[in-house]
Amino acid sequence: HEEFTKVKNVETVELGRHTMETWYFSPLPAEYSNCKVLYFAEFDLQFFKTRSEMLRHLSKCRLQHPPGDEIYRNRTAKGRVSMYEVDGKKEKLYCQNLCYLAKLFLDHKTLYYDVDLFLFYVLCENDERGSHIVGYFSKEKCSEEGYNLACILTLPAYQRKGYGKFLIAMSYELSKLEGKVGTPERPLSDLGNVSYRGYWTRVLLKVLREREGAISIRELGDLTAIKTDDIISTLQFLNLIQYQKGQHVLCAAPDVLERHLRSAGSPGLEVDPSKIVWTPYS
Ligand code: COA
Ligand code: NA
Repeated sequence: HEEFTKVKNVETVELGRHTMETWYFSPLPAEYSNCKVLYFAEFDLQFFKTRSEMLRHLSKCRLQHPPGDEIYRNRTAKGRVSMYEVDGKKEKLYCQNLCYLAKLFLDHKTLYYDVDLFLFYVLCENDERGSHIVGYFSKEKCSEEGYNLACILTLPAYQRKGYGKFLIAMSYELSKLEGKVGTPERPLSDLGNVSYRGYWTRVLLKVLREREGAISIRELGDLTAIKTDDIISTLQFLNLIQYQKGQHVLCAAPDVLERHLRSAGSPGLEVDPSKIVWTPYS
């Protein structure tokens, strides 16, 4: 779909200790368009055309983590991570910069530069120098459509390590704390689609495996915060559900569940719900 997409305007991004080739066009302010390299200050995400300007800025910048509330911190064998909630209205510049950066790796998603209406959940790896951004997801403060996630990105330097799975899992943990089901905003990218399909499969089949007697779609939704449509489409995709006499009937033999669970892959970096310190936006 190259002809529908604006031509890439930045070739490479430098961020912290990473250099990353960009994937897509980003509607950066004119003076930063058509840069070979764009240099991001890793904590406040301000960007510059030269490394020396960026380093000068960094030397004055006191921030060592995203400018928001730390809602999660955990230390496991896989490392130390934190998640910060950044309010698009309170930290407009940071969130706009994050969107400019993210768009370099996001294709068809319309990014909202009216960031006021969104919260940004920024995942970081922690070390003695600070909290280094790995990826994020955004979420509307109030979604009439019941979306629990608008955009999701793992920066290329950190992809394929289980962080996308963590971000998706966290979006559902927040929905559970809100007492609602949720669903990601569409369209999903191909990579987004595979990641969600895997998450839904793992979570739903684990509930089914543990459950002895019958379970309704409604109960599955209550337990997982996954929206009914997504539950049905996942189970249909796996051929575990049939529509009989006006209702959906689940038919899943234990060995079939086990086989599907194995092929749905690992849960990646897992969220420990007991480590979340968060209250819903109000
Ligand atoms: N090729 C094939 N499968 C891939 C893949 C790739 N390059 N990247 C991810 N996947 C699939 C795999 O099934 C993977 O599980 P596995 O590693 O156990 O096989 C699963 O997705 C998730 O892997 P994970 O490491 O948790 O994901 P991630 O941190 O790489 O993040 C995205 C996944 C979608 C967030 C990331 O690819 C991304 O930011 N893409 C660009 C932005 C985007 O498309 N966002 C979604 C818009 S709706
Ligand atoms: Na990002």
